[in-house]
Amino acid sequence: MGEGALQDRVAYVRKLTGKPVVCVGRFTSPDSMLGQLKRGVVDLIGAVRPSIADPFLPTKVRGGRLEDIRECIGCNICYAHDFRCSPLRCTQNPTMGEEWRSG
Ligand SMILES: Cc1cc2nc3c(=O)[nH]c(=O)nc-3n(C[C@H](O)[C@H](O)[C@H](O)COP(=O)(O)O)c2cc1C
Ligand code: SF4
Repeated sequence: MGEGALQDRVAYVRKLTGKPVVCVGRFTSPDSMLGQLKRGVVDLIGAVRPSIADPFLPTKVRGGRLEDIRECIGCNICYAHDFRCSPLRCTQNPTMGEEWRSG
């Protein structure tokens, strides 16, 4: 799926509720995240695989270090490992799961 592939469905859900709405679906770039928020499609951005590819994504957005973000490419190797009950791996972040080592 491409970036933000679920947005039309979520925009429909957004019309049906006054409660906060969060959506996933390959929001890999800060621009597309901001676009969703500005258009009122969602109140919160969900980022599952983008957070595996770069667990420091929110910190980098906050600090304006957008060029440093390691973007998820949607290859689903992480999910394939999870599905087989194996430790996760990420093609873009070979040290994923090791963040604790650097505090
Ligand atoms: C490693 C991994 C494990 C997941 N496990 C679950 C799960 O147990 N239940 C679930 O509803 N979705 C699960 N998902 C799907 C995510 O919740 C999410 O819908 C999906 O990754 C798309 O969002 P994203 O583009 O932000 O990654 C998993 C995704 C990944 C990558
Ligand atoms: S393995 Fe692929 S899909 Fe999973 S987080 Fe890394 S780049 Fe994204």
